[in-house]
Amino acid sequence: MKSILDYETVALVDEDDAIEIIDQTLLPGRIEIIRLHTAKEIWDAIYLLQVRGAPAIGVTAGFGLYLLMKHSEAASYEEFMKELKEKSDYLNSSRPTAVNLSWALKRMEEHVKSVTKDGASFDLSTVLKEMKEESERIKAEDIDVCRRIGENGLTLIKDGDGLLTHCNAGQLATCKYGTATAPMYLAHEKGWNIKVYCDETRPLLQGARLTAFELHSAGIDTTLLCDNMSASLMKTGAVNAIFVGCDRVAANGDAANKIGTSMVATVAKRYNVPFYVCAPTSTIDINTPTGDQINIEQRKPEEVTEMWYSERMAPDGVKVYNPAFDVTDNELITGIVTEYGVLRAPYDKAIRELFENKKQK
Ligand code: MRU
Repeated sequence: MKSILDYETVALVDEDDAIEIIDQTLLPGRIEIIRLHTAKEIWDAIYLLQVRGAPAIGVTAGFGLYLLMKHSEAASYEEFMKELKEKSDYLNSSRPTAVNLSWALKRMEEHVKSVTKDGASFDLSTVLKEMKEESERIKAEDIDVCRRIGENGLTLIKDGDGLLTHCNAGQLATCKYGTATAPMYLAHEKGWNIKVYCDETRPLLQGARLTAFELHSAGIDTTLLCDNMSASLMKTGAVNAIFVGCDRVAANGDAANKIGTSMVATVAKRYNVPFYVCAPTSTIDINTPTGDQINIEQRKPEEVTEMWYSERMAPDGVKVYNPAFDVTDNELITGIVTEYGVLRAPYDKAIRELFENKKQK
């Protein structure tokens, strides 16, 4: 029988001018594949978390921008770029925290500038072909990068380990392997017996609905816990390491990830459990100096008061605090696992050197 891991998280269906995704709001109860055609459909799918997770949002944005420009009738480079900028800004407004969204859109725009030599050799059909290929490259690179994060993460664990994760930085958040789950999938491939503990991740339950679903489908020993149980679990010594994903890493190593991550990191420090943030370099934003400058998305109160319940579970009119992400201070992070290796503190230096080396290549 087909498992959730046999489906593509995001795919381009060029002949139908569509992006195909798994509607993640329906998981794990129903696997429904949907197609997004219009700008509004793509925007809504990102905002409503039908497609989510920083890398998967980036891949969707790349395909989206290509498809939205595919039928452009722009007569000049200037007209084309004006239209592209409008569409890009619109898609970029769907979610503010994951930097992969603006990163992918910017990369598409820069590619158009480069292949047209800043407009000096503009040919519409060539530009569109290039945009399609660039969006496909973003997806292919995501798979390669996640695999490499997995290989680097694997050096931090051993057979028999208990690992904890928060939210879903799994295959469903990327195009394959995930980031935080990549070392887990590779360990499983090697025949290691690892145990993975998944925080449920209130209020949208990505840990229960998505991470537990995909790891359990892969045959990995998976245990679900509520978010307020991880301290008690760590105290027993069952957790050898924690792997989480991230939506944006600032230049000093502060890392924004799903709300609750910084609480896990704080408790991990208390119990001496290594806490690793898995980050493709596309998620590291060297233009954001520290976590204080990261824009944290605030979401609707209903996600806390009524979603998932058969009746409302809070008094009418009560105020609700519902940030979608928090920032883990860099001093709580044992290592940042990238596709190029594991970065260690001081992170400002490690990140600067990583980007300088990348530029030289
Ligand atoms: O709100 P979500 O579900 O998009 O939040 C996702 C996360 O916080 C992930 O950990 C992060 O995007 C990294 S995904 C590899």
